[in-house]
Amino acid sequence: MKPVEIKKDIYWVGAIDWSIRNFHGYTTNRGATYNAYLIMDEKITLIDTVKAPFSEELLERVSHIVDPEKIDYLISNHVEMDHSGSIPRVMEVCKNATIVTSAPSGVKGLTAHYGNYPYQPVKGGDTLSIGKRNLVFVPTPMLHWPDNMVTYCPEEKILFSNDAFGQHYASSERFDDETDLSVVLEEAKKYYANIIMPYGKQVQGAYEVVKSLDLEIIAPSHGIIWRTHKDDILNAYYEWSQNDPKDGAIVVFDSMWHSTETMAQTIAEAFKEKGMSVKLFDLKVNHNSDIIPYVLTSKYIAVGSPTLNNGMLPTVASFLCYLKGLSPKNRETFAFGSYGWGGQSIIQIEEQLKACGFHICLDKMSISYIPKKEQLEEITKSILSLS
Ligand code: FEO
Repeated sequence: MKPVEIKKDIYWVGAIDWSIRNFHGYTTNRGATYNAYLIMDEKITLIDTVKAPFSEELLERVSHIVDPEKIDYLISNHVEMDHSGSIPRVMEVCKNATIVTSAPSGVKGLTAHYGNYPYQPVKGGDTLSIGKRNLVFVPTPMLHWPDNMVTYCPEEKILFSNDAFGQHYASSERFDDETDLSVVLEEAKKYYANIIMPYGKQVQGAYEVVKSLDLEIIAPSHGIIWRTHKDDILNAYYEWSQNDPKDGAIVVFDSMWHSTETMAQTIAEAFKEKGMSVKLFDLKVNHNSDIIPYVLTSKYIAVGSPTLNNGMLPTVASFLCYLKGLSPKNRETFAFGSYGWGGQSIIQIEEQLKACGFHICLDKMSISYIPKKEQLEEITKSILSLS
């Protein structure tokens, strides 16, 4: 378990979690990494730690470079446990280290999780000299916790961006030009959609700051380090933060006896006939977090469920609950479904879509029992009539 030198005397000393498939409810089909970085200067500095079960992996990588006891500063950019979980173990070993974290939220969060340590709170623009290098702290509150900050080293032109620009992607490679860029961007999109999407305004603020920096490397705390394709990820973040897709449709549904499924397929076909890119997601086989990246870049969202026990199917309720929390904006939506006698599910779905703040672009589509050819033709006609 060796470190990787990313620039002279600056090392990746993180951990690779090849086996994780669920990160607090988000499917991590390609695993994850928890990136920590060691800067060898007059003051030896560790930037972030790793998830608790990987603390020995972190310390072993550090030990290849220096006795971990000699670490002077531990910069905690973010309190969430995938980055702070090893703090107790690291502080047990690094007895003389000071933890540098944001004021007041970082100190408050770390104290709540781990108790009292020598904390050094920092505010936006504060600079810490570690010898030949300086570290400048930039708060990024609510990206995606109140305590978040990023750390910039002007002498090295490196931004340690923590969650921002990260991806859940386990890989033996560390840099964007060593691996398949399309996979990295796909995972960055999934990460943004599931973790960052509610905070588009904050992303736009952070984007302006990051664009103003002289940058060679963006070193996030998850996944691949950006050095060749920085503009690709910065431009993608800018576009995603607009939360205003102009095209594309998704049809999300669950079905009991295939009638709602038939409606879903008809809707998808109609969007295609309209010349739009469309994806169909059956909630029996698709995880919510795998659908959300398509929400990020789709203008139209159709949601369907049959009626069961006077309501929608639990899979559809779960999707709508998750969707609402992520606050997509500027979407055109409608509800559909087949029913036997009540039909409440379609009414409830529309209510939930309105509660998301979406515009309802078509009337509810309800069909009793089995859809007839003429009813399906009506569905097609109404979608083709969308402006
Ligand atoms: Fe990667 Fe918000 O923790």
